[in-house]
Amino acid sequence: MGKLITVNKIVAIANQKGGVGKTTTAVNLASYLAHFGKETLLVDMDPQSNSTSGFGIEKSSVKRSCYDILINNATIEETILPTGVDWLDIIPANRDLIGAEVELVNTISRETRLKKIFKNFQGSYKYIIIDCPPSLSLLTLNSLTAANSVLIPLQAEFYSLEGISELTNTINLIREDLNPGLEIEGVLLTMYDTRLTLSSQVVEEIGKFFKDKVYQTVIPRNVRLAEAPSFGKPVIFYDPESKGAKAYQNLAREFLKRNGIELKQPPVDVKMKYPLAVQKKTKKDLTITGK
Ligand SMILES: Nc1ncnc2c1ncn2[C@@H]1O[C@H](COP(=O)(O)OP(=O)(O)OP(=O)(O)O)[C@@H](O)[C@H]1O
Ligand SMILES: [Mg+2]
Repeated sequence: MGKLITVNKIVAIANQKGGVGKTTTAVNLASYLAHFGKETLLVDMDPQSNSTSGFGIEKSSVKRSCYDILINNATIEETILPTGVDWLDIIPANRDLIGAEVELVNTISRETRLKKIFKNFQGSYKYIIIDCPPSLSLLTLNSLTAANSVLIPLQAEFYSLEGISELTNTINLIREDLNPGLEIEGVLLTMYDTRLTLSSQVVEEIGKFFKDKVYQTVIPRNVRLAEAPSFGKPVIFYDPESKGAKAYQNLAREFLKRNGIELKQPPVDVKMKYPLAVQKKTKKDLTITGK
């Protein structure tokens, strides 16, 4: 009998350039996918652990992280933590992950460890979103090898395309060898500033390069997106009416549409409660109802 495939898609969020909005996109896209009733697993592959702390999870409270999956053969089931958001779980990162890079160098099939672990995983998530570190290191290579597709956030600024050929070359090399099916999920413009004409020129350049891969949804520069992580919440629970929140909600819609899912029904009523592993920033549980 064939194996029941329960995970629809694994999406790596990658760009070796630092600070372009990878983590903001991972946390908020994952939260809005949950908001639309899609069970989602977020995987924090970055030793900086920003996705993990974005849900208020203290690094020091993380007993098992991606490190244990890559190095100690821990199973996904053993490593998953609740984010506190309904329909959304996380495989957290902690400082151990800094060592993973070095420890992986001399292991056999060092680029395919994550892929193998996902292959044996029987969970029932619709989407797995991987937040990659700002490098083309073994952590990113493992993510791109395990993924079905890669979502590339690009900051809408003059130098945003610089280094992009390095990323596309890496994607092509991975396709040739480790993961022939790797697709580009989409290219997302982040931190767009409408007051700058420069931004619109950059958008045009990026459009020429990536064509219809570029999402119509553009993420504006919005302070609420930057503030939310310090409250340990995705923006949907911090300020759902903000421009940043609306943009990530639109992105989730567009993402689903590209994947053949038209949302006819209103979003589900997701709640965020705080899991045990979490340092409580706010005592009150928050509820958000979809419109
Ligand atoms: N649209 C936005 N508007 C305003 N601030 C933003 C926006 N997106 C991200 N930021 C802020 O910019 C900084 C970098 O964003 P983020 O951490 O998501 O990038 P990253 O690509 O994950 O960075 P790194 O490469 O270090 O992992 C963060 O402080 C974040 O809060
Ligand atoms: Mg990050």
